[in-house]
Amino acid sequence: MSILHTDAVDHILSSTVPHDDPILEEMEAQADRDGFPTIGHEVGSFLRLCARLTGARSVFEFGSGYGYSAYWVAPALGADGQIVLTEVDEAELEQAREYFERGGYADRAVFEAGDALEVIERYDGPFDLVLIDHENHRYVDGFEAVREKVAPGGVVVADNVLNSGTEMTPRDLDAFLTGGASADAGSTLEGVTEYYERVRDDPEFETTVVPVGEGLFASVRTS
Ligand SMILES: C[S@@+](CC[C@H](N)C(=O)[O-])C[C@H]1O[C@@H](n2cnc3c(N)ncnc32)[C@H](O)[C@@H]1O
Repeated sequence: MSILHTDAVDHILSSTVPHDDPILEEMEAQADRDGFPTIGHEVGSFLRLCARLTGARSVFEFGSGYGYSAYWVAPALGADGQIVLTEVDEAELEQAREYFERGGYADRAVFEAGDALEVIERYDGPFDLVLIDHENHRYVDGFEAVREKVAPGGVVVADNVLNSGTEMTPRDLDAFLTGGASADAGSTLEGVTEYYERVRDDPEFETTVVPVGEGLFASVRTS
């Protein structure tokens, strides 16, 4: 359950999300069992919407875990589309590959083990959709590495920007942005605020906050 809205809104959001893929349900059960921080189905549904609205054919993800978020996007890509998954944990990436194979989407996925910030250097883009979901304090680095590779009209989505367990709440972010509160060096709050200021001030992107899941910044490339 997200802390960003009421139980009723949470329930309505859940009810509008399609629950017709047993692989997704299996992945969600794994997240519940292991306490793994996937984006969750509401954000998954939003990502798929972004993929459909942008007519996405090329997608890059920073931090894929065992493939839950990428799996949400895969059906929207069409058979000629491609999503690049990146993950430092090779066992997680192997699980992603297995889930994609069982779901019938492996032919539209590339599985890259290693640091996403190094992997991105080997790709030219253009990307229609980018998900940033690795380490908060390196979100800005991810954006810097990918921004020139985002197609006009393409979207960059960053996850976990309003709430991050005990590390950061919306109140902390608000206090920083409006009240000038400080953020500890290397903290989640510092990473998120640096990212927010970077994308907000980028003249080639328009950014909005989307309060689903743990909160998103969605930045569309306008020129
Ligand atoms: C919050 S989880 C993301 C899960 C996935 N996006 C999902 O929603 O199912 C973050 C993942 O990023 C991985 N990660 C952290 N730093 C990374 C990096 N520099 N490059 C690639 N993966 C990284 C972690 O191992 C972890 O599996």
